Order: sequence, then structure tokens, then C-alpha cells
Amino acid sequence: MAKRDLSYVCQSCGAVYARWQGKCDACGGWNTVAEETNVAATVPAAQRARSKGRPVQLETLHGEAKPAPRMISGIGELDRVAGGGFVPGSIVLLGGDPGIGKSTLLVQASAALANAGHRVIYVSGEEAVDQVRMRASRLGLAQAQVALAAETNTENILATFAAGKAVQFVVIDSIQTLWSDSVESAPGTVTQVRTSAQLLVRYAKQSGAAVILVGHVTKDGQIAGPRVVEHMVDAVFSFEGDGANQFRILRAQKNRFGPTDEIGVFEMTGAGLSQVPNPSELFLSHRDAGAPGTAVFAGMEGTRPLLMEIQALVAPSSLGTPRRAVVGWDSARLAMVLAVLDARCGVRLGGHDVYLNVAGGLRISEPAADIAVAAALVSSLTGAPLPSDAVFFGEVSLTGAVRQVSQAAARLKEAAKLGFNKVVMPALGDGTSNGLEVDTVTSLAGLVAGIAARAPRRAAMPKPEMSEQEG
Ligand code: TYD
Ligand code: MG
Repeated sequence: MAKRDLSYVCQSCGAVYARWQGKCDACGGWNTVAEETNVAATVPAAQRARSKGRPVQLETLHGEAKPAPRMISGIGELDRVAGGGFVPGSIVLLGGDPGIGKSTLLVQASAALANAGHRVIYVSGEEAVDQVRMRASRLGLAQAQVALAAETNTENILATFAAGKAVQFVVIDSIQTLWSDSVESAPGTVTQVRTSAQLLVRYAKQSGAAVILVGHVTKDGQIAGPRVVEHMVDAVFSFEGDGANQFRILRAQKNRFGPTDEIGVFEMTGAGLSQVPNPSELFLSHRDAGAPGTAVFAGMEGTRPLLMEIQALVAPSSLGTPRRAVVGWDSARLAMVLAVLDARCGVRLGGHDVYLNVAGGLRISEPAADIAVAAALVSSLTGAPLPSDAVFFGEVSLTGAVRQVSQAAARLKEAAKLGFNKVVMPALGDGTSNGLEVDTVTSLAGLVAGIAARAPRRAAMPKPEMSEQEG
């Protein structure tokens, strides 16, 4: 008889406690700890004693490693994020906010793979078969040979896969709806999700099918409940975007079979997700060129250059502690740039609210954006617009120096392609500027002085704040 007892499991991060508590110590979530009955997951003692273990064959590090054959969907933006197609026997978690388009993306991928001759099964635990059909016909994909099922029991799902021809591509929409007979917790609990995911991981490895699990995301951006699942899968993709605009970005957060810095850009249209082959054009299309406080940053997303607009608003504050609000960038990084502006350039923003936004719902993680941010901030403070045909990139160090960043050539090429004439960057080195006029900045103070010199209202410039510290 298996040992039965109660445990208290955090439904957000999976931490286990001996008794109930209101706050999870591990992830800080409130009211996330729930009672679960667990049949002890260990192997019964009688069985344990029998197996002494058997030695396994040891291998050397060198030797032939076959490159994994890939299943290519033909949706280029998706295949690239996956590392050049889906790997048979791999398991991928696709996370994203509700309504962002996960099901749409996966129906399109399923149809494309089915049309390429793979056997594809789409299991929906959230929608009825009719709803999935309706979406497929709206997408014009109703003729694709995708096998559909609306089922939430993991054992039934696995039995379905085992019957019939070998399956190559499986979508489970979503992992949070699954439940397994082998554990007694309620569906949706961490224990259920973890157990179902484990069964599906084992299925993927044994059968050689590529399995995609859909996972919901909570408000703070965590894949809800099964953060534990992230460790079990081969790749974690997130599908991002905000409701206000049509852009969607697919990003690999973890990938055992490919790079993690690639992004795929999509646009949600009336006929499903369409690929955006030249995202820079899209992200700059609604640009308010010539307004103070905006700068174009020449960034890199993986191997691909991407131009984006950075918007800053600096306004006198009436608060004791002025506001710093950042969307799309790291707030610690903003604090650093503000500190360097203050200490090295005499630009005092201690009495100002600072708002920073990356247009188009993009998120930047590169330090190369530092000088674009600094330029936008100073431009907003002084009211001096930046040249609308210039791009910026360069990292600011704590000493106030501007440092070189990688892949300058690719950034310059993209800027030239999109019709920019000027680049503000640290030393060019030995590369070509692609016909762009290069404005070399070696210190942040130099950049600030250059922008301030263009200010239309010199008198309006806060005198004591732009102090005499830098000449
Ligand atoms: P869906 O794929 O159901 O999102 P998720 O599975 O991530 O919850 O997408 C839902 C949204 O996408 C819905 O608000 C409608 C929109 N949509 C379109 O704009 N065009 C389309 O062709 C489809 C199928 C959906
Ligand atoms: Mg869905």
C-alpha cells in the first residue's frame, strides 16, 4: 500500500511545504499554496531491493554526431526561432498571454507540417473540436490533414498517439488543462501539470515525435504554475506582444537545439499570423520624426539587425521621489544611465519624472542601447530634436566613456538599407560605414554637449542642472 499523505504545494513555483501558509517563501506569491494529496512518488521498497542496477556502455566525447534532422514548417520566422526547424523527439513549451495567438500560430504550423507530409495531431484541452475547426477555416487551412482531438486525460492522449500510424508532430493546447490518473490532485495543480508533462517528455523521447506544449502565462510574465516544466523541456519559447498593436514576437528563452537570441516577428491579421520579413520597416513606420525625445537605436536581435525607436519624456516632477517608468527596457540600466548623466555630464534629473518607452512593444536587452537612451533623454530635457536621419548605438560605461559594441557592420548595413544617413557611435574601427556619415562619440559628455548645442530654447534650458562641470 502506497504511503498517502498531504502536502502543501505552491501552485506557482512548485515549492512544497509541510503545512499551509499564506505566502510562498520560494517565489513570494500570496495565496498560492494549496493542499495536495500525494501518493508517495517513490518506488515501493520491495521493488527497489531487487534491482542492483546494470552497468551502461560508456562513450567517448569524439565520434560521429549526426546533425539532428529537422522538420521544417516553411513558416520561416518560426523555423528560425526553433533553430532551423523542429527536432524529432524534442519537447517545446510555448508560453504567452491568453489571446496573444498561440493557438493560431500552432494551427498554422500544424497545417504547414501536415501539408509537408508529416502526421500531425492537435490536441485541444481548451476548445471544442468545432472551435478549432472554425479557426482553421478562418485561416483557410481546413483542408490540411491535421488530426484533431479534444481531450484532457493524459493517459487517453498517449493511448491515442500509440494507436495508428507513427506521429511526427504533436500540439498539446494547453498543458494546464491536462490531468493524469496516476496522481490524485485536482486538474490544474502543479502536481498534475508536472506529471502530465513528464509523461509527454517520455513519449517524445521514445517515439521521436516533436511535442509542443502550450503554457499560459501569469500577469508577471511567469509561465503559470509549471515553472517546473521549464526544466523538463528542451526549449521554451515565449510569444509576446501587447493587445494594442498587431506585432507579435516569438522568442526562444531556452533552446537545447539552437540559439536563444533569435526572434520571429509576426503580424496578427484577419487571416491569421503573417510573417514580417523586414521588421525594422514595421517598427519605424509610425515614427514621429523630428519630435524631441525620440532616438532610433540600431539594435541586434540574434543574428538580425533591428532598428527601433526609443522615446523619452523628461518632465519636472511634483513628487518627492520622482517617477521612473520604463517600458521595454531594464529599469536598473536606466538608473545607471541617469547616474552617469548626473555624475559625468552634469545633467541633473533628480527633480524630473522620467518615462522611457520602446515603440512597438519591443523589449531591448542590449547595453548597446545606452547612448540612444541617453540621447533621447537629453533631447527631451532640452527640447532639441535629434536629427531624424540618424541612428545611435554604443554602450556607456560608469566612467562616462562610450564603448564599442559587437556587430557594428550589420547595424550600419541595416541603417543604410532603411535610408538613414548618419550614425552616432563609438569609433568605427576598420569597417566600412556603408555610406553613412559617422559621428564618433567617445564620451557621454560629448554626446550631451552636441545635443545641447542644437537646443532651440537655450534660455529655457535648466541652467543649474547643466552645470559647468564639463567644459
Ligand atoms: P488565439 O490563437 O486563440 O490566442 P491564444 O491561443 O494565445 O489564447 O488568438 C486569439 C486572438 O487572435 C483573438 O483575439 C482573435 C485574434 N485572431 C485574429 O485577429 N485573426 C485570426 O485570423 C485569428 C484566428 C485570431
Ligand atoms: Mg489558445
